[in-house]
Amino acid sequence: MQKQRNILSVILFIFYVSVYGQGNNHAQDYTKFPGLALTPPMGWNSWNKFACNVDERLIREIADAMVTSGMRDAGYSYINIDDCWHGERDSLGFIHPDPQRFPSGMKALADYVHSKGLKLGLYSDAGSMTCGGRPGSRGYEFQDALSYASWGVDYLKYDWCNTEGLKAEGAYKTMAAALKKAGRPIVLSICEWGTDTPWQWAASVGHLWRTTGDIFNCFDCIEDHGSWKSWGVMQILDKQEGLRKYAGPGHWNDPDMLEIGNGKLTPGEDRAHFSMWAMIAAPLIAGNDLRNMTGETISVLTNHDVIRVNQDSLGIQGFKYSVKDSVETWFKPLKGGDWAVCFLNRGKQEARVNFDWDGERVTDDLSGAQLDVSRQEYKLKNLWTGKISGSTRRRLNTIVPSHDILMFRMSAK
Ligand code: GLA
Repeated sequence: MQKQRNILSVILFIFYVSVYGQGNNHAQDYTKFPGLALTPPMGWNSWNKFACNVDERLIREIADAMVTSGMRDAGYSYINIDDCWHGERDSLGFIHPDPQRFPSGMKALADYVHSKGLKLGLYSDAGSMTCGGRPGSRGYEFQDALSYASWGVDYLKYDWCNTEGLKAEGAYKTMAAALKKAGRPIVLSICEWGTDTPWQWAASVGHLWRTTGDIFNCFDCIEDHGSWKSWGVMQILDKQEGLRKYAGPGHWNDPDMLEIGNGKLTPGEDRAHFSMWAMIAAPLIAGNDLRNMTGETISVLTNHDVIRVNQDSLGIQGFKYSVKDSVETWFKPLKGGDWAVCFLNRGKQEARVNFDWDGERVTDDLSGAQLDVSRQEYKLKNLWTGKISGSTRRRLNTIVPSHDILMFRMSAK
């Protein structure tokens, strides 16, 4: 008995020393809030369309439009205010929203967004100032996290401007700890543009991490801003090479927000952009004005079947299987033995796809999934026409227009 008590005392002593040993009886937990973003987050963000022109009226109207357009029912939930919502810090260091643009305050706005069955996201920066020159969170992380939690914020995009001298991993861990301490489940969206390979350290810290610099509203081009570049849809896609193994439920590669409906992409390019973001299990964060959408934009953003591929509960990021002339073939293993397949025509001319299912050996080394059409026939549903187009018994022989995509769900018959 005495011996057992001694052992217990030793165990308790070791526990005490390891937890409180550094004189810190408020040990921090540097990990993200668990159980969030188990499928890629879906929502809207103000930056791509509105940049710094944000105010509470816009955000309310966008929340309304997310409901009336059918986007909420299609699965979108986050309404994220990007840069420039900030006012100043008060004498105690607490941040406040810009009183002109957000006169009712963030709590009232969060309440409104929540009343619509949606969630509110905010933006801050790990440095002294945001990219738009507003107050950053450096030195105020715990205080800011407390404010966000008290306002009812559900998502934080945390940027990386003006961070000279900081190390990304430590800076993001500090904010993760601050959010944890604040106690509210808040998704942490890491936005350091892939500079410090976040996929290698961020799975326990944040729920998603940007893999690249900013998207540029163009299908296949690069915008040179002098000291930095922004990237077209295809350029961003190419930069995802080698990253799929880091993604999974609760921790996603983020190839940046969508440009669908922002007036530069053709309908085919919109389809290709949306399909590919679905294939690579990317967050689907719309970046357009939801109050004024064409029927075409709505039909792309709310394509139920494509969203289902993106939101598949296995959370396996798809992979490029082959490249033939201008056509890339991508596969994504899905729950229950289904697959999604895309034929992406990146060329300036239409291209013929001639795919003999039987002659191909599609194996996913990462998940172990294997597509064996000799043992199993799959029916093919064209996810952009909604029609069943045959099965893997017959070779697929068809045309894909320039800058467009064919996307199928393959289901076991
Ligand atoms: C950076 C981010 C963008 C956006 C702007 C805001 O460029 O990568 O997504 O948040 O800052 O200033």
